[in-house]
Amino acid sequence: MENLFYPDREEAKNARIKNSCEYEGLVADANDDYEGYWGKLAKEKISWFQEFDEVLDESDAPFYKWFKNGKLNVSYQCIDRHLETRKNKAAIIFEGELGDQKVITYRELYYEVNKTANLLKNKFGISKGDRVVIYMPMIPETAVMMLAVARIGAIHSVVFGGFSADALRDRIIDAEAKLVVTTDGAYRRGKPYLLKPVVDEALSVGCESVEKVLVVERNGEEIHWEAGRDFAYAELVQNESPICEPEVMDSEDPLFLLYTSGSTGKPKGVQHSQAGYILHAQTTMENVFDVRENDTYWCTADVGWITGHTYIVYGPLAMGATTVMFEGVPIYPDAGRWWKMIEEYQVNQFYTAPTAIRLLHKTGAEEPKKYDLSSLRVLGTVGEPINPDAWLWYYNEIGGGKCPIVDTWWQTETGGHMVSPLPFATPIKPGSATNPLPGIFAEIIDENGERMPEGEKGLLCITKPWPSMIRTIWGDPERFKKSYFGDAKKDGKPVYFSGDGAMYDENGYIIITGRTDDVINVSGHRMGTAEIEASIGNHDNVAEVAVVGKPHSVKGESVFAYIVIKSEDNLGEDVELLKEINGIIVKEIGPIAKCDEIVIVPGLPKTRSGKIMRRILRAIVKGEAITQDTSTLEDPSVVEKIQAKF
Ligand code: PRX
Repeated sequence: MENLFYPDREEAKNARIKNSCEYEGLVADANDDYEGYWGKLAKEKISWFQEFDEVLDESDAPFYKWFKNGKLNVSYQCIDRHLETRKNKAAIIFEGELGDQKVITYRELYYEVNKTANLLKNKFGISKGDRVVIYMPMIPETAVMMLAVARIGAIHSVVFGGFSADALRDRIIDAEAKLVVTTDGAYRRGKPYLLKPVVDEALSVGCESVEKVLVVERNGEEIHWEAGRDFAYAELVQNESPICEPEVMDSEDPLFLLYTSGSTGKPKGVQHSQAGYILHAQTTMENVFDVRENDTYWCTADVGWITGHTYIVYGPLAMGATTVMFEGVPIYPDAGRWWKMIEEYQVNQFYTAPTAIRLLHKTGAEEPKKYDLSSLRVLGTVGEPINPDAWLWYYNEIGGGKCPIVDTWWQTETGGHMVSPLPFATPIKPGSATNPLPGIFAEIIDENGERMPEGEKGLLCITKPWPSMIRTIWGDPERFKKSYFGDAKKDGKPVYFSGDGAMYDENGYIIITGRTDDVINVSGHRMGTAEIEASIGNHDNVAEVAVVGKPHSVKGESVFAYIVIKSEDNLGEDVELLKEINGIIVKEIGPIAKCDEIVIVPGLPKTRSGKIMRRILRAIVKGEAITQDTSTLEDPSVVEKIQAKF
């Protein structure tokens, strides 16, 4: 087909999955015997302490249980089992913002994780099931900490370092964390910044569950130490024994929580399991990135998001790969930093977000030419739709026109890739994540469960459970059911609804058309408009507010707020109001949720029952025609009044 890009046949000969027949064979296997497909993989890929006796238990759907009664330990899967053959292989290659480098072999990682696990147990009294919040930058100690928590059967909740003290506090309280691990700070854009003061502020109110704070010293900046509560990591860890027996975990014990935004209310603690999660993390690493034994793989995500969990730490280490970790930003000291690193470390697979590709294309289109990028074999994208312009630049300038791009669609809740090309088996197309992976039943359906015809938008759903799926929302199983297993049904059974709209193209490929709920995607960061609205609503002069995403050439979407003010008297310039509002957002959520633009409007379009018709607001900001009937609005004239502001 003309609009498709085909993989190089010579290169494909060495791939794990070599052609479309092999891919279709796997799909057919999974279709014929779904449980058999996953059961076989689980037996092959996981180093069980005790093998499971049932692949899937659906008796309490949607609280599915995978690999029942299996016993394992995820840190054992990621480290110990590699020691026989990969002891001296690099597990993590780290580069700091200032250019400092560190290589950690599997042997070294083993000792570091064991010592840290002992420290957590012995000094901090952490045991199976306890929650540990990790508020740390992109340094190897963060991965060590996650693995150490997993080793002793505790549950980590990594909070992205860009979140504010208020947001961190909410997450600590919700998880009832016993320990917070942080750093003094880290480096960004060549300069030191601080993290510990954010933890101090978070803990100043209502975090009674937290007993201690463990501080990894990264940049030596002056910080406050609270006697009896705060402890320095380096000093303590050296005294611990380098052997810590891994806790025997059940397949379904929780591995971690990761908070993510939904369309309503506070962020939800997405809970992942042990066996199902690690199985899918590992097999997608192998198949989607086609990582081979001597490869060096690099994912630029932050470890505070699911991409960092699955594709910097757990996936690569579970398969025994070499994973690159970078502390900094892509444009410091210049927009060639990433390309320089690809040359330096001879990176074979490179995985990043469309927003970064657009930024680098815009600010440094010529930079890639200065570096030797010929080591690259597979490129990946994640987090948001990629526009064909950015795709083509990535394909030609970074991949030299020879590297397949895997556009991977997935979510915090799915744990790992769901819809994605296999690099040497799927012809690719700019802007499409192509097909569901084998064993994943992703389908675009309407509210009645009917498959959508080509070219028509529907709901992207997963119609059968999969091993790495979210198990529940921490502490709120009802919300879990309501959020994901709502209206959409297939063959009369509830299906997992992703919140994304999508359609099939002329090749039968899946094209993601964006969220259908009140979630926006700014620079690949997922945010609930409700959370941002709640912050803006805390401004004294804001009576009502509605936030929508506005298309943005680099960020994908930017935050746009329609605001009804309480009083003209208190109103200065719009820019002043925007500044004040952003002050509140930065305090309550973090800089990632900052509002780009506001418009002051006389009222919001609401139904008679008081529901804000955001679809109208989205259409106005995009300059699109309003297609829905506005006569049912409480005050239809408000739409024209708003339009007059643009
Ligand atoms: O809207 C989809 C978008 O990101 C959402 C998931 O966000 P999050 O849970 O933060 O995880 C991001 C990293 C997996 C999805 O609901 N999204 C993710 N990947 C893609 C995408 N949109 C289009 N194309 C993708 N490849």
